Amino acid sequence: MKRRTLLGGIAASTAVVGFPNLSISQEAPKRLVMAPLVDATTTRRVRLEAQKGRTLFKGSSRADTWGFNQPFLGPTLRMATGQTTVAEVKNSLDEAISVHWHGLLVPGSVDGGPHQPIAPQATWTPEITLTQPTATAWYHSHIHGATAKQVQMGLAGVLQISDGQDDARELPSTYGVDDLTLVIQDRRFTRNGQMDLSIGMAEQMTGFLGDTMLINGQIGATAVVPRGVVRLRLLNGSNARIYTLALSDNRPMHLVATDSGLLDQPIALTSLRIAPGERYEVLVDFSDERAVTLVSAQNPNAGMMGGGNQRAGGFPVLPFSVEASLPARITRLPTALGGSRPTADASNAKWRRFSLDMSMGMGMMFRPSDQRFSINGAPFDMKHIDFNVDLGAMERWTISADMMMHPFHVHGAMFQVLSENGQPPQAQNTGWKDTVLVHGSADLLIKFDHPASKQAPFMYHCHILEHEDGGMMGQFTVG
Ligand code: C2O
Ligand code: CU
Ligand code: CU
Repeated sequence: MKRRTLLGGIAASTAVVGFPNLSISQEAPKRLVMAPLVDATTTRRVRLEAQKGRTLFKGSSRADTWGFNQPFLGPTLRMATGQTTVAEVKNSLDEAISVHWHGLLVPGSVDGGPHQPIAPQATWTPEITLTQPTATAWYHSHIHGATAKQVQMGLAGVLQISDGQDDARELPSTYGVDDLTLVIQDRRFTRNGQMDLSIGMAEQMTGFLGDTMLINGQIGATAVVPRGVVRLRLLNGSNARIYTLALSDNRPMHLVATDSGLLDQPIALTSLRIAPGERYEVLVDFSDERAVTLVSAQNPNAGMMGGGNQRAGGFPVLPFSVEASLPARITRLPTALGGSRPTADASNAKWRRFSLDMSMGMGMMFRPSDQRFSINGAPFDMKHIDFNVDLGAMERWTISADMMMHPFHVHGAMFQVLSENGQPPQAQNTGWKDTVLVHGSADLLIKFDHPASKQAPFMYHCHILEHEDGGMMGQFTVG
């Protein structure tokens, strides 16, 4: 019964030491459930329907939620690389949505950004041809000005790009057993059990910060894992919360993949920062059968803004318990992963600079007044294309973010982090990325291999959804 005392001690406490306002559960531990897996690697067809639902998160009253094919969030889609998959996306909601494939390297015409709204009752059927390597991507709505709300309501899910070779790589690959897909989100609830989407004073700056953790849409669940090596595909699907993840007994997390694919070899980390939009895959060895909890330190942005109750100290994200009867296929850590780390040379690349700005009410009179965030001083304008990139070009982008940390994301491309604040990138940013948390400045090297026209340009933006909705976004064509 050592599991009970350990988990009981963490899961049952609402007030976690040093972090009184962010708890996981007051209820008895329940088993974490994965989203249903829609494996389209042979059918080459996926069907998504955005719909309304009611979800029981806690207590006894259900919350109004949205989801794809289910009441809240969407299924995990698995698509094969080297193939074309037809997606059929129906909108059964009362307002326009879009479905952006975040992390897919595809042309603007099927990217699902703000220029490709799906009207209520309409169906969008993009043909998605994948040529990129194995990776964990995701999909979410991307209507300008409504992305934060639509994602909070539940319009998001994970998308795995697979080449079917994970067994040969000796990577855990049994969905929901030793290969766990974990959508990490924070929410707040009203007294009658509805999701509270309201934004307080400090959140005008930081973006929405909840006080309750949801993993795969569940509160207070425990992940049950086999006695062996387990793969965690982590997605930060929160609007604004940045997590600094660690395991409660400080055992290493072996980083095997970043946003856009596998590394060449695992990197052992005891702490991993994950910002909204980012994905990281880690292996954790549970062969000692000890129960551990994935924990996080406070959001560094919240601390900086001096938001109310936020003090130093951690809060639990997800407890694990080992069940020895589950099949443990992998018991050793792989050494070579077959992926790569980018090492291109930036010397001939065209250089662009972007500063992520928060212009609180000053001097922005020439644009809609609700656009308080901007890039290079200009809030996002649907009708204005910021620049064109030559198809096939390699560009160096320097992103600066001084006031607070911002996760910067580019559509339609993956990039190399050349440096962070003039230093070599930290270990977790040495793989292929499409989103990077910028704290000061980051230098990126990006190859643009997919076209995007004026009708459906690519976006670049901060992935704090309230910042993106508030204007910290731009758009470009490739061709
Ligand atoms: Cu995940 Cu432009 O977004
Ligand atoms: Cu994206
Ligand atoms: Cu931001």
